Formats: sequence, structure tokens, C-alpha cells
Amino acid sequence: MNRLCIPAMILLLCVSSGAVAQRKELIGVRNVSSGAADSNATYAIGLSLDNGATFVETARATDAVSISGIIRAEPGHVGQKANIYIVALANGTSWVMRNSAGVYVPWDGSVPALTPFLRDQTLTASFNVEIFVGTLGVLGTHSLFLGYLPADGILRYTPTAHRITITNQTIRDQAVAKFAASISNNIVQTSCIACHVNGGSADGVALNKFVTTANPSHLTTNFSQFENLVKARGRSLILSKVRGGNLHGGGAILLQGSTDYTNLDQFLLLLEKL
Ligand code: HEC
Repeated sequence: MNRLCIPAMILLLCVSSGAVAQRKELIGVRNVSSGAADSNATYAIGLSLDNGATFVETARATDAVSISGIIRAEPGHVGQKANIYIVALANGTSWVMRNSAGVYVPWDGSVPALTPFLRDQTLTASFNVEIFVGTLGVLGTHSLFLGYLPADGILRYTPTAHRITITNQTIRDQAVAKFAASISNNIVQTSCIACHVNGGSADGVALNKFVTTANPSHLTTNFSQFENLVKARGRSLILSKVRGGNLHGGGAILLQGSTDYTNLDQFLLLLEKL
């Protein structure tokens, strides 16, 4: 539905598609003899369960996933040829690189030993790279890096990785864990409960009403409030209200792109699948 832009509803539907979680943005550096130097190339990497429509950071070992990246080269390299590199650190222990056959093979971590995934590619302002398509059987947290080597022979790459987690947890387990880790205290108790509580300004007008941490079952009670809210109202409306849209009685609460907003979006994406 996010993908449809029906003419009469362009505004509504195109705005709601902005709420879809994006790939993780990563900065870039140049590899020079003294270490790493500035580069204004930027990158983005994302793990998707729906072919790139939305992005998640956790998938199950049996899920069919696609991982894709974007290289936004330094402006002087756009239109120039470059080799493209994909490197991953599996579980914090073994380095692998994607070779020209598309297979992940061990890498010793040294720049001279790097082999490109793609050779002689003409860089565009936003160059798409397929990182992985299939089932990621290996459990744990994996770090993904991208890079390119233009004609000057200096490697540009992401110094910090995009980290993804491959788990055996069910979607409900993941949602419950996400709620406890990033939603309950940081969002519900901090930003919502002032109004969405017995006797608060949203009491009786909004579906979602929360209990404080004084209630020993606050985690399950408040989780259910969100689960019911997603079923009744949908993820897009909730995100819109939180951004201050749809005449939210509480106005704008979280800034789109902030850590809390992104966590809420990822949590709601999980609830949508329950
Ligand atoms: C300053 C008070 C206030 C704060 C803080 C607040 N809200 Fe609200 N909210 C309201 C009021 C009043 C309504 C009822 C009017 C409306 O639908 O916007 C409401 C309605 C909503 C609705 C619509 C519910 C429905 O049944 O249709 C959602 C969703 C919502 N809020 C989410 C949130 C979330 C999530 C937070 C915290 C991140 C939050 N609000 C923080 C006052 C607030």
C-alpha cells in the first residue's frame, strides 16, 4: 500500500511511504598510508525481508532476505570506473569478502589481499550494490562493510559497519525484546504516558493507554496496547500521530530520523507481522 501513489491520494500515500524504515546510512573514509582520511562519499546498507520495500536489522536464520547497499561516491568519481568491494565480519570473529563469483570467501583483513566483487563499474551518484540474496543460515551479529577503488588506487570504504542480527527468535520474541530494550522506558514512559494514561488528556479519546512502571505487568500491558493499536489503526497512522500529523492531540513527539523514532518504526514493523 505504501508503494501506491494513486493520483487523488498522492499526498497521503507518498507521505506515509516516508515512514518506511530506510537503509542504514554510513559515512566513508579514504585508506591512506597514515591510516584513514576524510572522504565525502557516503554509503547505505539495508537488510530486507520484502525485497527492499522496508528494512530491518534482525532476521530469522530461515528467512529469505536481501541485503543491498548504495555507494554515493565522491562527486569527482561519478561517471568514473571503480572496483566494488563487500566485506563482512561474521559474529565478530571471521572476516569474509564477496568474490567476483558472488561467493563469500575468507579474507585475512589486509587491504592488498582484498579482491573486488565487481570490476570496472561506472559509478553513478547513487550506485546500487547487491550484497546478499538468500537465506543467512549463520546465527549471530554480522557486520557489513562496503568500499570502492577508483583510478587513483586509494580505497574508499565504510569504517563503521552496518550490523545485522540473525536469530532463531520468533517475530513475537523479537518484538517483546525490542519493546523492553528500546520502547518501554525510552518512549512509552518518557514521551507518551503523560497523556496516554488513566486521567490523562488522551484517556477516553485514544485507544492507547499505558500504565506506569509501578505496575509489575507494565511490559506486557503496554506491549498489548501497541499490538491492539497496530491492528486497529495501522503502523502509518501511529507514526504520523507521533510526528504530529493527523491532528495528534499531543502534537509532535518524536522527530523522524531520531533514534527513538527509528526504534518505534522497527518495533511497529514487527507488530505488523504478528
Ligand atoms: C501532550 C499529550 C500527549 C502526548 C505526550 C502523546 N499523545 Fe498521543 N494523543 C493525545 C491525545 C489528546 C490524543 C487523542 C486525539 C487524537 O487522536 O490525536 C492522542 C492520540 C494518539 C493516537 C491515536 C489513537 C487512536 O485511538 O486513534 C496515537 C496513535 C497516539 N496518540 C500515539 C502517541 C504516542 C505513541 C505517544 C508517545 C510517543 C503519544 N501519543 C504522546 C495526546 C498525547
